[in-house]
Amino acid sequence: MPARKLLPALVGVLTGALVLAVPAPAPASPVPDEVSAYKDASQPVKVRVQDLMARMTLDDKLGQMIQAERLGITNPADVATYGLGSLLSGGSSQPTPNTPEAWADMYDGFQRTALSSPLGIPLIYGVDAVHGHNGVKGATIFPHNIGLGATRDGALAEKIGRATAEEVSGTGIDWNFAPCLCVVRNDRWGRTYESFGELPMLARTMAPIINGMQGKSLSDPGSVLATAKHYVGDGGTVGGKDQGETSISEAELRAIHLPPFKEAVRRGVGSVMISYSSFNSVKMHANSYLINDVLKGELGFDGIVVSDYNGIDKIDGQAGFTPAEVTASINAGMDMVMVPFAWKQFIDTLRAEVQAGRIPQARIDDANRRILTKKFELGLFEHPYTDRTFLDTIGSKEHRDLARQAVRESQVLLKNAGRVLPLAKDNQKIFVAGKNADDIGNQSGGWTVGWQGASGPVTPGTTILEGIRHSAAPSTTVAYSKDATGIDDSYDVAVAVIGETPYAEGKGDRPGSMGLDQADLDTLARLKATGVPVVVVLVSGRPLDIAAQLPDWAGLIAAWLPGTEGQGVADVLFGDYNPTGQLPATWMKSAAQQPINVGDGQAPLFPFGYGLRYRPQQ
Ligand code: GLC
Repeated sequence: MPARKLLPALVGVLTGALVLAVPAPAPASPVPDEVSAYKDASQPVKVRVQDLMARMTLDDKLGQMIQAERLGITNPADVATYGLGSLLSGGSSQPTPNTPEAWADMYDGFQRTALSSPLGIPLIYGVDAVHGHNGVKGATIFPHNIGLGATRDGALAEKIGRATAEEVSGTGIDWNFAPCLCVVRNDRWGRTYESFGELPMLARTMAPIINGMQGKSLSDPGSVLATAKHYVGDGGTVGGKDQGETSISEAELRAIHLPPFKEAVRRGVGSVMISYSSFNSVKMHANSYLINDVLKGELGFDGIVVSDYNGIDKIDGQAGFTPAEVTASINAGMDMVMVPFAWKQFIDTLRAEVQAGRIPQARIDDANRRILTKKFELGLFEHPYTDRTFLDTIGSKEHRDLARQAVRESQVLLKNAGRVLPLAKDNQKIFVAGKNADDIGNQSGGWTVGWQGASGPVTPGTTILEGIRHSAAPSTTVAYSKDATGIDDSYDVAVAVIGETPYAEGKGDRPGSMGLDQADLDTLARLKATGVPVVVVLVSGRPLDIAAQLPDWAGLIAAWLPGTEGQGVADVLFGDYNPTGQLPATWMKSAAQQPINVGDGQAPLFPFGYGLRYRPQQ
């Protein structure tokens, strides 16, 4: 007899009363405790949101609007005490060790604390998985967006979105600050490579990446919340200056920079991140017309509007945030505030502004309604912890094969004099040179493990040199020297893998020269001296100023920033893949032409959409 049935008899004996050992009748069905509507998954989301908000204090609601950096949480209990709505890992904010399991444990730890709060509202945690789950060592690193734009392949983008979401889910994370739908109009911009290219149609073509990330339903296993960023006009600043001034007419803003966000909203993107830049001297973080009237009104966006990292601080151009900045931004339509470290002060300021009547309660309620709706839609109340079945997807062969295909399709063949390409596999002497030939960090670019990325073996993958060695037949010699020392005229061909080293955001702005660095020029000079035909593979986040050197090159491939699967570059070099890439940006004849875009009347070195084939497309 189960213990619970023994109890009546035992109680009888102990109290002296002779109680027949007759077990209490089992209830017809277990009567559930009174379940709050917001905890009842059978209720419509709208009802759950309404019920939950009715139970929330002002401070509960203010806490939900805060997204703090994990490094800004000195006392984990604060997550529950302040009822924080969200945490993030910024570009270089990773657990130690930087392993998928450690990420999942970190996420679950914070989530467990969040659920211990009186209302038990789960956290939503954000990262920048902008070309794969790039903060995690061992994750699959896909080509950066500029290379994906060269593929014009929306179906591929959707698959990449799904693969990225699976790897992100395997670490518990549920919010991805991607894709960047910026339209780069000046290649001097340090974020050129985060753009799909210079026309809105490219961002629209690649927008299915959102559906890949969000799945058919946000509550499906492996789905994460996507973010269309940075709203709006970040790629159109004067001089390509990051976080600069977009000085164009509203008509041009609507024609060039707005369409990708319209498409993202149409596709159901769950969040939109606001740009640091200004539009005609109005900081986007305080731009009520473009956020409230256009994004939320005209476009009907009903998801979360999130600030950029300390974005509100930058409204007045001074360090830190003021009550005026807080009020301007929240009233402009900001729902979630990415305030990495000074989040306690932010809550106090926000509370004071609401209590002073400068921020209407209705605005706070609207922000909470948006945030809580996404949390319910994500299923976070039912499944708050990491789904570790996705751990195995991280860096998996399936995902790396997909990344290799993306690399193949992103290569743009710009020159092929004397049909020097494709390279023969047999009985050749191939000399490989260049600082980007054998460097995973350089071929991946910024936002790779660290915010700025770094040269060297930063994460497991296949370098372009390793890909060449793998493709060449045993009868072929492949020699390598980073700076081309050792080259002589006995070689059939030289492959120079050159270009840029990693950078991110403003650190990548190039207001001056956009040419090759001295190391590359020296390497090329050594190769040229031997008379061996040179094929250049340019690994860069943007078109570079190479017109002066181009006549010395027999072949040229724009490889962009291919990520971990360098084999995809070799597949094109040896003709295992007939190049199909098309330029996502007009290629300047000279940096003096910047900004240079299709239709502006300037004569480029290579026009937008240009790309050669080895053989006619079947
Ligand atoms: C950065 C970037 C933004 C990113 C955010 C969080 O400054 O501007 O793209 O999502 O901060 O890392």
